[in-house]
Amino acid sequence: MPVSSPVDRWIVLKFGGTSVSRRHRWDTIGKLAKKRAEETGSRVLVVVSALSGVTNELTAIADGAADSRARVAALVERHQAFLDELELPRAVLGERLAALQALLDDARAAARTLDWQAEVLGQGELLSSSIGAAYLHQNGLDMGWMDARQWLDALPPLPNQSPWSQRLSVNCQWKSDEAWAQRFRAQPTRLLITQGFIARHADGGTAILGRGGSDTSAAYFGALLGASRVEIWTDVPGMFSANPKDVPDARLLTRLDYYEAQEIATTGAKVLHPRSIKPCRDAGVPMAILDTERPELPGTSIDGSAAPVPGVKAISRRNGIVLVSMEGIGMWQQVGFLADVFGLFKKHGLSVDLIGSAETNVTVSLDPSENLVNTDVLAALSADLSQICKVKIIVPCAAITLVGRGMRSLLHKLSDVWATFGRERVHMISQSSNDLNLTFVIDETDADGLLPILHAELIDSGAMPVEETAVFGPRWREIAGTVRPRGTPWWRGQRAHLLQLAEAGTPRYVYHLPTVRARARALAAITPIDQRYYAIKANSHPAILETLEAEGFGLECVSHGELKHVFNVLPGLSPRRVLFTPSFCPREEFEAAFALGVTVTVDNVEALQRWPDLFRNRELWLRVDLGRGEGHHAKVRTGGKESKFGLPMARVDEFVRAATELGTTIVGLHAHLGSGVETAQHWRLMCDELAGFARRIGTVQTIDIGGGMPIPYSEEDEPFDLEAWAEGLAEVKAVHPAFRLAIEPGRYLVAESGVLLTRCTQVVEKEGVRRVGLDAGMNTLIRPALYDAWHDIENLSRQGGYAEAAFDVVGPICESSDVFGKRRKLPASTAPDDVMVVADAGAYGYVMASTYNQRAMPREDILE
Ligand code: LLP
Repeated sequence: MPVSSPVDRWIVLKFGGTSVSRRHRWDTIGKLAKKRAEETGSRVLVVVSALSGVTNELTAIADGAADSRARVAALVERHQAFLDELELPRAVLGERLAALQALLDDARAAARTLDWQAEVLGQGELLSSSIGAAYLHQNGLDMGWMDARQWLDALPPLPNQSPWSQRLSVNCQWKSDEAWAQRFRAQPTRLLITQGFIARHADGGTAILGRGGSDTSAAYFGALLGASRVEIWTDVPGMFSANPKDVPDARLLTRLDYYEAQEIATTGAKVLHPRSIKPCRDAGVPMAILDTERPELPGTSIDGSAAPVPGVKAISRRNGIVLVSMEGIGMWQQVGFLADVFGLFKKHGLSVDLIGSAETNVTVSLDPSENLVNTDVLAALSADLSQICKVKIIVPCAAITLVGRGMRSLLHKLSDVWATFGRERVHMISQSSNDLNLTFVIDETDADGLLPILHAELIDSGAMPVEETAVFGPRWREIAGTVRPRGTPWWRGQRAHLLQLAEAGTPRYVYHLPTVRARARALAAITPIDQRYYAIKANSHPAILETLEAEGFGLECVSHGELKHVFNVLPGLSPRRVLFTPSFCPREEFEAAFALGVTVTVDNVEALQRWPDLFRNRELWLRVDLGRGEGHHAKVRTGGKESKFGLPMARVDEFVRAATELGTTIVGLHAHLGSGVETAQHWRLMCDELAGFARRIGTVQTIDIGGGMPIPYSEEDEPFDLEAWAEGLAEVKAVHPAFRLAIEPGRYLVAESGVLLTRCTQVVEKEGVRRVGLDAGMNTLIRPALYDAWHDIENLSRQGGYAEAAFDVVGPICESSDVFGKRRKLPASTAPDDVMVVADAGAYGYVMASTYNQRAMPREDILE
């Protein structure tokens, strides 16, 4: 490139500590710089951090560590070793390392003046950038080196800025300046490298930008140059909808506006320093966060040009939050009360984060990342505050923040989130005035394990619109390659056969017995479980009952009707293999069950009191409500105060007394808290809790932990982690070996074995929405209408090679909820008479069907 290159388009690339500490990473940096220059015709400015760990060492030295000399020696050695690795002569850093050593003997070292500290701290970037320039040059890149201190000027101090931050946490001037730009443009090479983190102080010395300063340096350069883009290259793929360490289901956020990104960076995500966003926002320079190890990923783009997508984008957690609660009597009458209070925070150098106020109380939070909140500072603050009000310090707290545009208009979707917080002690709720965040402050210990639950609730409620592919990218688990894929469903291999079956009339359910057997055997292989029952309410087709009975399963029934059905289908079945677990059933059903000799479960004291003769001298199982419900939808959660099922824990003793008086023995203890529960630990915990009660009762032989295991209905879902489930059960079984362990799943055994075959009746477009009508409706399969349940839908008649279009898939019933799915991808050519398959309909399909609107019941077929 000629000296005065006419090119004045710039791209700024920033690389952090881990990206500059290894040889292959420098190869990547070189490649990326060259690629960007070539593909965009721009000039490229590379901004780098110090090698990883170096700034920490320099901080210790600047703080006057006793072993500073040894630390400097180690730093010298480390950098020389890196030169060796890069096959560069040691002379490359000769002068720089000498300068580092000389700082120890500098006249200012003894007093550790702030300007000296700044110089010490800045050495890391000067070293790493010099190494990089030499290495890339050696590899044929014309990379010019620049001292950032000749280009970034610290702004004059702010009125309240401490001398420390005037030197070690400065902001820089970033407003465009033509003279500056001209000087910069005159740099001889097309590719340039410089340091992050350092700038020039007004006195000509070194100033430091503070932690995360390299991002901010890149942003300043981007703004000053009017760059077309600032790329922050790091060792993570970008910003996520939650910290992937806590929430493996967190989504990569592929596009954010500056304000949302700012909020996410401020409230938790560590990948981008929050200070770096404003310069780019003001100058209109787009930013991107990209992964040096996985450059093929989309990363996170941050700009101001995308149409806003309302909804929660991220949930974050900050620990170590300090709450200061100040109680003052009738304080609103006191003019200047708040001024006095905040004056004291200022005096102790504390900046306040959240504020909540009432007539006699003001509570504020202090964020440890913005403040030095050690016990000394807090004690001094309390002492001062107690002169004007009653002070209470609440520590340690966690702040859980939902971030997203239009938070206020989302409140109606947050009911599950509120309910989840409702179970914790919430100290404070704060909604930001920019309508971008909603924060809950709770005790730190209560926050453990909460994020995955809240994240799932945000998605389920639609508050986090993960279907917006412009904003939400892949899940962390997919990126990390830890997703266990769903297997290929059996029906894909049976297309011709299914089409033939459909000829005999639709809608019809088809059940594949080999799939039922495979699931049964997977459960039978789990050794901690002693007894298995199949909850026949999921699907009571005789062939399925026979199959599962033959696989060694007992049967669980909820009504006299189900009991009669079971003994009709399997006349020789021993009643010892049958459970009766009714809910609010009439007396006659209990009588019938006792007459049949099956195991009866009771879940309330009132039944014993009302019908003592019925329950006298019996052996019973007791169903307990462990105080919470879980499951894929509110309507299938069967625990907690809102649920009609189970005896509350507080009444177990009362039940035992009532039973003892009747001479009745409790031989089994049962709980089933919901259906479609995704956390494998759910059953382990239940088993442990039930064992506690069983020990107290003394007569219990069997603990039944219910059903509820999920299946992967959509591509988003992973198969249930049976191994983790079994491991958890084995662990609790080892602690409570005295009890036999029983399960009673329904869905897990049969859902994937069944499909619903249905025929397309009409394809209609109405005001931009295309609808496919089916001859099956909510009367055939009610799950989508009742629980918003997802079932995959495919056009069996037209497979492969078709352009896709989005359709709403609906039925023929006169109800607006008669919808199987919205915006489903189907062949654009989908037409009347096509045979469609609704997948995973083997559980709670036919058994919940009705003749509503006088439509016929579906038919059923069995495949061997
Ligand atoms: N045990 C008891 C006491 C139950 O109430 C149930 C289901 C089960 C076992 C079997 O649960 P599973 O393993 O299938 O999750 N119609 C809803 C499901 C309702 C479940 C009712 N009770 C659905 O289609 O999702």
